[in-house]
Amino acid sequence: MRSLADVDPDIANALRQEAQRQQRNLELIASENFVSDAVLEAVGSVLTNKYAEGYPGRRYYGGCEVVDVVEDLAIARAKELFGAQHANVQPHSGAQANMAVYFTVLKPGDVVLGPNLSHGGHLTAGSAVNYSGKFYSIVAYGVRRDTELIDLDEVRDLAKKHRPKLVIAGGSAFPRSIDFKPFAEIAHEVEAPLMADIAHPAGLVAAGLHPSPVGVADWVTSTTHKTLRGPRGGMVLCGSEHAAALDKTVMPGVQGGPLMHVIAGKAVAFKEALTPEWRAYQQQILRNAKALSAALLAKGYRLVTGGTDTHLLLLDLGVRGLTGKDAQEALDRAWITVNKNTIPFETKSPMVTSGIRLGTPAVTTRGMKEPEMAQIAALIDRVLSSMGSESVEAKVRGDVQELTNRFPLYPERT
Ligand SMILES: Cc1ncc(COP(=O)(O)O)c(C=O)c1O
Repeated sequence: MRSLADVDPDIANALRQEAQRQQRNLELIASENFVSDAVLEAVGSVLTNKYAEGYPGRRYYGGCEVVDVVEDLAIARAKELFGAQHANVQPHSGAQANMAVYFTVLKPGDVVLGPNLSHGGHLTAGSAVNYSGKFYSIVAYGVRRDTELIDLDEVRDLAKKHRPKLVIAGGSAFPRSIDFKPFAEIAHEVEAPLMADIAHPAGLVAAGLHPSPVGVADWVTSTTHKTLRGPRGGMVLCGSEHAAALDKTVMPGVQGGPLMHVIAGKAVAFKEALTPEWRAYQQQILRNAKALSAALLAKGYRLVTGGTDTHLLLLDLGVRGLTGKDAQEALDRAWITVNKNTIPFETKSPMVTSGIRLGTPAVTTRGMKEPEMAQIAALIDRVLSSMGSESVEAKVRGDVQELTNRFPLYPERT
């Protein structure tokens, strides 16, 4: 068989360059992580060849006896990991996991109460440019101006006023953990189901380090590639009473053939997540986020909510006269990868923003600990304190490379 380098040197070269970039840079994007070699092997496997529309034991195609084993394992491990009665591991992404719940529960035009995107929510919780905002009538709740924490009084008032058919908790940029119980009480007071989107803290939830919505919310959706450290993909958890309706919505409702190679990768990641080492990894993510936050606060940075108790931090750079866009670009030039992010009560556009979001899952996977977090804070500060200085950026690049060289990543791919 001909190798990738033989068949397509352009793509082979791009893959090597990307592996080198991942090795060289400090990856601080809160929604990214580095999967294990075992997960990579599963995702790059012959399972990509197999059509398997349907579910284990009831497929529309022949030859599914092996992939049935794979999907059954993924389902059983997801249920064990989160203590859920039912798991659907077929959603291709977090967006499609959310779509599966919406299509199961709602009719077009129904009212949905969800978190405001610029206060930490996600596009799929009702942004006007997303299917959720186009199909449903969205009412958004936000955080309080004084505490920057979710305003549960506002959630309750809006629920009573608008009588939503679905309430959503969870988002992409909440630095604090979310207690799903008061959300469930409010939703159930107005006879609406609660959907908890744990795409971000799923790994922490699985490790018992963040409140779990399982058994509290009616629906739980997640991605599998953030703190959970699996392949890019989604999943939905729910009670057995919703299992048949959910499965029917995922396939044939919104998807065709499942990505069996990705489902194999999910199964491997869930197996890894069931080990004590993995719990220790999640604890280190939290310790690292606290250390990074403390070091940045000590340098005078303002963090939204004043800190973090998850894997992510939101820096308000507006108070320093900087934009998130300029900061992201300057840090990029110094090989520190972050994303610009809106902050609560944002005054700039989503393409500019006043903030940047930082996360510790990926650097923790590489083995970095508290001392490296202090170093990272100092590197970030050097770049942001001398915006546009090519000589500072060049020196920081050198220091970043020295740091990342000490924590090798995928050595055989670079
Ligand atoms: C809270 C939340 N929900 C859903 C998604 C969508 O996931 P995906 O990018 O896999 O569609 C994300 C991704 O960032 C997210 O943060």
